[in-house]
Amino acid sequence: MARANKITTFLIFLLFNLLLTYQSLAKQRNPNTTLILGLTHSRASLPIPSAFTNSRKRPTQALDMMEPLREVRDGYLISLNMGTPPQVIQVYMDTGSDLTWVPCGNLSFNCVDCDDYKNTKLMGIFSPSYSSSSYRDSCASRYCIDIHSSDNSYDPCTVAGCSLTTLVRVSCSRPCPSFAYTYGEGGLVTGTLTKDTLRVHGIGSGGTRDIPNFCFGCVGSTYHEPIGIAGFGRGALSFPSQLGLLQKGFSHCFLAFKYANNPNISSPLVIGDMALSSINKMQFTPMLKSPMYPNYYYIGLESITVSNISATQVPLSLKEFDSQGNGGMLIDSGTTYTHLPEPFYSQLLSILESVINYPRATEVEMRTGFDLCYKVPCPNNNNSLTDDDHLFPSITFHFLNNVSLALPNGNHFYAMSAPSNSTVVKCLLFQSMDDGDYGPAGVFGSFQQQNLEVVYDLENERIGFQSMDCASAATYQGLHKK
Ligand SMILES: *[C@@H]1O[C@H](CO)[C@@H](O)[C@H](O)[C@H]1NC(C)=O
Ligand SMILES: *[C@@H]1O[C@H](CO)[C@@H](O)[C@H](O)[C@H]1NC(C)=O
Ligand SMILES: *[C@@H]1O[C@H](CO)[C@@H](O)[C@H](O)[C@H]1NC(C)=O
Ligand SMILES: *[C@@H]1O[C@H](CO)[C@@H](O)[C@H](O)[C@H]1NC(C)=O
Ligand SMILES: *[C@@H]1O[C@H](CO)[C@@H](O)[C@H](O)[C@H]1NC(C)=O
Ligand SMILES: *[C@@H]1O[C@H](CO)[C@@H](O)[C@H](O)[C@H]1NC(C)=O
Ligand SMILES: *[C@@H]1O[C@H](CO)[C@@H](O)[C@H](O)[C@H]1NC(C)=O
Repeated sequence: MARANKITTFLIFLLFNLLLTYQSLAKQRNPNTTLILGLTHSRASLPIPSAFTNSRKRPTQALDMMEPLREVRDGYLISLNMGTPPQVIQVYMDTGSDLTWVPCGNLSFNCVDCDDYKNTKLMGIFSPSYSSSSYRDSCASRYCIDIHSSDNSYDPCTVAGCSLTTLVRVSCSRPCPSFAYTYGEGGLVTGTLTKDTLRVHGIGSGGTRDIPNFCFGCVGSTYHEPIGIAGFGRGALSFPSQLGLLQKGFSHCFLAFKYANNPNISSPLVIGDMALSSINKMQFTPMLKSPMYPNYYYIGLESITVSNISATQVPLSLKEFDSQGNGGMLIDSGTTYTHLPEPFYSQLLSILESVINYPRATEVEMRTGFDLCYKVPCPNNNNSLTDDDHLFPSITFHFLNNVSLALPNGNHFYAMSAPSNSTVVKCLLFQSMDDGDYGPAGVFGSFQQQNLEVVYDLENERIGFQSMDCASAATYQGLHKK
């Protein structure tokens, strides 16, 4: 459910090189940066919520939060300030899972089979022994019961060795047994549930606010998961749920890919009433309730239009669930690229092929695993001249409730490397959903959510989209250091 692991090593290598051409200056990244970013927001620059005057739910500003998200090549990182004194750990912001976990231990964190990620620098390790407020969660806590997915709340305590007497008196205080937590693409993490103080950034003059007893995974070893994850689903363990904001919502505005690894700018993530304050021009599509994964966010896709041609073979599975609960389109900040099922995906490729006249770059397709790459003329090797709306046809997603979302420029075809010989190769950053009929039928990934304000209105069970220049939004929110 979390981020896609489908990217090949080679692609990572290519994208990494691409980042370098964008002066990503990874080497200059200053560990202090996160702290600075974490403090840069100001009340003065924020819009006053229209709900303020005539609302039944008074905006409880004290509960609202704004956290800056730092962009890396395959996702967006939130900085967690945890413990006493606070330790800063950067983790992926993931709407496709519930658990928040951090690499944990005395430099003993072990990521198995993580060769694909050797360019990924560890974003910090949490040491519970350095935090005076850290303690292991008990077997009777709701979080322990939740992570062990038990119908029987006595189970974790029985596994922990509690006696029958203490079970029935609910007086057993043994620690929650170790857990294993899996992700859709095969990732696996194991650890123990820990509670500690989480420091968040409020909106307004309050500055920071401490959330005591925040429950998270202290993870000592993982398979394929080198960086921690903050789960933004709707289960008991999730980040918005533990902060008591499940009845409200959150919004994010993901910066364009060219800002990845730029330490001077971060994407706004707003949690609480304020996230729903500027929704006048938004188009909303209903959240669908997946019988299989009720804690995650599903929307219904009705069709896709390329220029003025509509794809015809849109399967019902993209807007409905079958009797086993499979289907629907997952909207997931933890998956990088949008995935569509066959044969719909191939039909979309055919339509694009029929309207694009550039020569194909088949050798790049072979190397990267992307299915549609073109050699685009690029005068003077100046890439900014190819950041142009008219080079490629527009792609519009039509979601339930008549929501038309034209993908912003740069969210479909993207340059695979720096231009050379007055040519740049651009590939369609969509992939086929190849795990058959099980689980979601499609995934709307983070790459296709750049330069969009995406609002998760949890109270009204709907998701809103609005195209937005997220760099300007970041500047407006004080998240752009000049
Ligand atoms: C963080 O900044 C402080 C003050 O500028 C400096 O003394 C310290 O060495 C920096 N720490 C790191 C890890 O760069
Ligand atoms: C971690 O390291 C600290 C300092 O070296 C030490 O005091 C502590 O006992 C260690 N904790 C564990 C669990 O090894
Ligand atoms: C970030 O800001 C610093 C200081 O102003 C500047 O030297 C650096 O080039 C900037 N980095 C990027 C990637 O823009
Ligand atoms: C799409 O637009 C092109 C150019 O504007 C036009 O020639 C073509 O007939 C249109 N196709 C459809 C299906 O409307
Ligand atoms: C590339 O083109 C843009 C837009 O025309 C221009 O502003 C920029 O100076 C050019 N850069 C180079 C290196 O020629
Ligand atoms: C759907 O939206 C379009 C404009 O985006 C509008 O012209 C059309 O009337 C709407 N259809 C319905 C059924 O609301
Ligand atoms: C550059 O492009 C020209 C014209 O398309 C071609 O003749 C030449 O071989 C190319 N050079 C390289 C190094 O690819």
